[in-house]
Amino acid sequence: MRSVERAALARAVALAARAHPRVSPNPAVGCVLLRGDRIVGEGVTEPPPGRHAEVVALAAAGDAARGATAVVTLEPCAHHGRTPPCTTALLAAGVARVVIGHPDPHALAAGGATALTAAGVEVVGPPPPGTVFRGGVAGQLEGFLTAVGEGRPHVTLKVAVTADGSVDPPPGQRWVTGPAARRAVHRWRSEVDGVLVGSGTVLADDPRLDVRDVDHAHQPSAVVLDARLRTPPTARVARPGTVIVTVDLDGHDTPALGPHAQRAARLRDTGVHLVAVPAAADGRGVALPAALAALAGTGIVSLLAEPGPTLSGALLRAGLVDRLVRHVAVHLGDATPSALTTPPRGAWSLERSGGAGADAIVQYRALRTPPRSIAPPTPHT
Ligand SMILES: NC(=O)c1ccc[n+]([C@@H]2O[C@H](COP(=O)([O-])OP(=O)(O)OC[C@H]3O[C@@H](n4cnc5c(N)ncnc54)[C@H](OP(=O)(O)O)[C@@H]3O)[C@@H](O)[C@H]2O)c1
Repeated sequence: MRSVERAALARAVALAARAHPRVSPNPAVGCVLLRGDRIVGEGVTEPPPGRHAEVVALAAAGDAARGATAVVTLEPCAHHGRTPPCTTALLAAGVARVVIGHPDPHALAAGGATALTAAGVEVVGPPPPGTVFRGGVAGQLEGFLTAVGEGRPHVTLKVAVTADGSVDPPPGQRWVTGPAARRAVHRWRSEVDGVLVGSGTVLADDPRLDVRDVDHAHQPSAVVLDARLRTPPTARVARPGTVIVTVDLDGHDTPALGPHAQRAARLRDTGVHLVAVPAAADGRGVALPAALAALAGTGIVSLLAEPGPTLSGALLRAGLVDRLVRHVAVHLGDATPSALTTPPRGAWSLERSGGAGADAIVQYRALRTPPRSIAPPTPHT
C-alpha cells in the first residue's frame, strides 16, 4: 500500500465515522477515489435505502474515476441486495486499482476482491489481522462484524462502582459517578443502536436510557430484558422505539388471555416493541443468546449494556460481553480501588484507562478467536 493510499484509508475511516451508526445495521463504509496524489471523489454509506460508499464516491468523481484507485474501508460487495453490486459499479466506472481496509466476512456479500481481480483490477489489501490499520477499521465495523460472525450485537458492558466497590450511589446521591463520566456514557450511547438494562434497573431507577447533554445525531433504542413484564406502562422507557424482550409466559395458543398478555397489551399501547424468546435454562429471565439474536434480527447490532449486578453477571458468565468499561468513583485520599487494578476474570486485554473529571475509567476488550461467518438472515444491502 502506497503512503498516499494509507492516508486515504485513514481519511475513509474518518468519513465513515460520520455515517456511523445512522446506517446501522448496514456497515458504515468510507471510500476515497485517488488519481495520483489527488482525491477526485469521496463517499460514505447512505442511510437505508441509500447508496453504498463506493457508488457515492464514483458519482462525485464522474469521468475522473476512469483509471483511478478506490480506497475503501470494507471489501466492495459482490452481490445483488437492495442495490446492485459495488464491484459492477467500480468496473463500469473504469477504476484500475482497489485498496481494501477489511474483508467482508458475509457469506453472500463477500467475494468482491476475487471478482475485481478476475476482471483485471489490481487489488491491494486488506492489511493482515493484528495490524493497526486492520484494527482501526475492524473497531469501526465491530457491530456489523459481530452480527455477521456471531449472529448477535456487539456488547459493551458499562459498570459504575464507588471506591469501595458498591454499585449503589452513596446516600443522598442519584448517581455513582460525576458529570464528566456520565457525559462519556451519553457520548457512547449516541454511537450504539441500543442501550440495554434488566427490569430490575427499570424498577429501581426508572431511567430514560436516551442521549442527553452531548451533541448527537442519533438516539439509540432503549432495550429491557424483562421476562415477567414487570416494566410499568408508566416507566420512562415505555415509549415508541423501545424494545422489551420477554418470555411468552401465556403460551402461543391463548395469547389474548392471562396476566402476561394483559401486561403485554398495556405496554404495546405505549408504542413499545415486544419480542418473545425462550426462558433461560435456569429459569432466571430470558435466554440471553436468543435475546441477543432476536435484537440483531431487529437491526440492533451494537449495544451499550448498563444493567445492575444481576444482568451484568449473567452477560459476563455467558461470555456475551465484548468490551467491559468500569467507571470508578475515586475521591482524594482514597486507597486505589481494586476495581481499577483487578482485571476481570477470563481473557481480556486492557484497551484504555484514564480519567473523567473526578472519576476513573478502565476499559477491557474480550480476547476471542476472530468471528466466523455464519451467514445471518440478511446481508447488508
Ligand atoms: N452502578 C451501576 O453501574 C448500576 C447500573 C444499573 C443499575 N444499578 C443498580 O442496580 C440495582 C438493580 O439491580 P438488578 O440486578 O436488579 O438490575 P438488572 O440487572 O438491570 O435487572 C435484573 C433483572 O433483569 C431481568 N432479566 C431478564 N433476563 C435476564 C437474564 N438472562 N439474566 C439476568 N437477569 C435477567 C430479571 O428480571 P425478570 O426475571 O423479571 O426478567 C432480573 O431480575 C439498582 O439498585 C440500580 O440502581 C447500578
